[in-house]
Amino acid sequence: MQPTPSPSPWHDWQGHALVVGLGGIGRALAAELPRRAPGLRLWTAGRHGADLSLDLTSDADLERLAELARTTLRPLRLVICTAGLLHDGPLQPEKRLSQVRREHLERSFAVNAWGPLLLAQALEPALERGLPSHFASLSARVGSIGDNRLGGWYAYRAAKAAQNQLLRTLALEWRRRQPDVCVTLLHPGTTATPLSEPFRGMVDPERLFSPERAASQLLDVLEPRDAGRSGDFLAWDGSPIPW
Ligand SMILES: NC(=O)c1ccc[n+]([C@@H]2O[C@H](COP(=O)([O-])OP(=O)(O)OC[C@H]3O[C@@H](n4cnc5c(N)ncnc54)[C@H](OP(=O)(O)O)[C@@H]3O)[C@@H](O)[C@H]2O)c1
Repeated sequence: MQPTPSPSPWHDWQGHALVVGLGGIGRALAAELPRRAPGLRLWTAGRHGADLSLDLTSDADLERLAELARTTLRPLRLVICTAGLLHDGPLQPEKRLSQVRREHLERSFAVNAWGPLLLAQALEPALERGLPSHFASLSARVGSIGDNRLGGWYAYRAAKAAQNQLLRTLALEWRRRQPDVCVTLLHPGTTATPLSEPFRGMVDPERLFSPERAASQLLDVLEPRDAGRSGDFLAWDGSPIPW
């Protein structure tokens, strides 16, 4: 007989949850979360087809979200930011220095680096001291400076590395000001979504996750964590990634 899976530590949590970015992994997370945290009112935010319209590069959108945080989203227990940008038309990962463009660096940083930090700023009013909660954001192993052995992908690598530093800094501030929030940076592993689609040729099919599997693994990593371990950069299997 199969052992009954133990219930999620979030099973009895009450309050609100927010998934930002409804791409491949964001949608799969939004589908899985109600099973693990049935007491949380789930909101989605993104540029298309979400409950809340949110472009992370728009100050007006972030201010509208901040207003909702002040009036409606409290207590916010779980936030997962899955918004990210690797390629879009002429913006493509650079293979060499001559392909670097100021405009592409700025676009990549606006979404991948400042986006999650400004999201945290907008949402902070909805956090409630005394209630454990999570602020997680998807980073990427290629954002690791210590692990950079291949080069290339200047804008995306640097923007994810900047996100890591910004959210590590946030984790240190929140240890004092929001001591019940666990901030986590997560690498989902290579996952079959539009973001990875042009770059999957070399990936071993065994190591290419479906969005559903990636989402489930990321939630397995987050569930047992608490604010005492805030500020880590972890892979899909829970292993730490060098900064
Ligand atoms: N897939 C992988 O192999 C892989 C590997 C490592 C890390 N990651 C990271 O995992 C996260 C999720 O990626 P994914 O694979 O699910 O990719 P995806 O399917 O391309 O989803 C990315 C999402 O980000 C949203 N987004 C982009 N710019 C935005 C903005 N300005 N404001 C709000 N949302 C914005 C997109 O919205 P629209 O739908 O409106 O364009 C899209 O929904 C990203 O941070 C990515 O860097 C993915």
